[in-house]
Amino acid sequence: MGKVAVFGAINQDVIALCERRPRAGETVLGSALLHLPGGVGANQAVAVASAETECVLIGAVGDDPAGTQLIAFLNERDVDTTHVRTIDDAPTGTAIIVVDASGENNIVIVPGANNYASDSGAVEFQAGDVLLTQFEIRIETIAPFFERGRRSGCINVLNPSPAAPLAPELAALVDVCVLNESELKALSGVPVDVNDEQSIIQAARSLLPGNATVVVTLGDRGAIAIQPDREITVHAAKVDVVDTTGAGDCFVGSLAACLATGRPIRDALDYANRAAAISVTRQGAGPSMPTRKEVLS
Ligand code: RIB
Repeated sequence: MGKVAVFGAINQDVIALCERRPRAGETVLGSALLHLPGGVGANQAVAVASAETECVLIGAVGDDPAGTQLIAFLNERDVDTTHVRTIDDAPTGTAIIVVDASGENNIVIVPGANNYASDSGAVEFQAGDVLLTQFEIRIETIAPFFERGRRSGCINVLNPSPAAPLAPELAALVDVCVLNESELKALSGVPVDVNDEQSIIQAARSLLPGNATVVVTLGDRGAIAIQPDREITVHAAKVDVVDTTGAGDCFVGSLAACLATGRPIRDALDYANRAAAISVTRQGAGPSMPTRKEVLS
């Protein structure tokens, strides 16, 4: 059984709850303000550890109370934070999030210390480990991380979020790419009709070379894994949505955890899909990740 090494952003989420998100130039009244743990890297690391898979997080926080609280939360959730650096020159990353009554959100990220995150090479990788990263850290730091993974026989998983161009040299290092429909549209440059599965499949196949797997998350419709010779679809359960923030991170982290334990992609998709469905019934991102026991029951 391998571990998952997550290289990614750690944020304090400052969340305003409101009935309806404001339009451009509009002011609306909120009903509550919350400060909760977040950041795609940290959220995915919590999802991995919650699935009872060993997880080490590589990242950076500022030398401030938010950084201290985030490290304490991650440790409480069994994430190894030995390789999270504390940076003097920048504050802990912050995400300003507006969540409406239907659970949908808008997010603005101020990266702060995340811009200083780097893989020092100190974490040793074994064959079968999963390396997982996203685009909330400096993109140029990702290829050297994945090159280390390739040399060690690891599975490199990329979640290109927030969407940014995927260079061919980086694409060549990816074994599994997990992204949502809007990220697929932005990265593939191929027209995607969200109601037409064939257009999703074609766009996904154009994204990565060789034998790589592309997993497209479809929100409340589930997810689809696209491989060179087949597609696997899973359907989402109907749930009462409280907050969709971090649902994608829950899916990605859970999938990575299953791949590190050697489970086939169909089982991994099924587990990740169930975990994400539970996460949207809870407030916030980091704290909404369900335990393995909750997912299995
Ligand atoms: O994916 C949700 C996350 O995006 C939030 O926790 C926020 O910190 C941003 O990184």
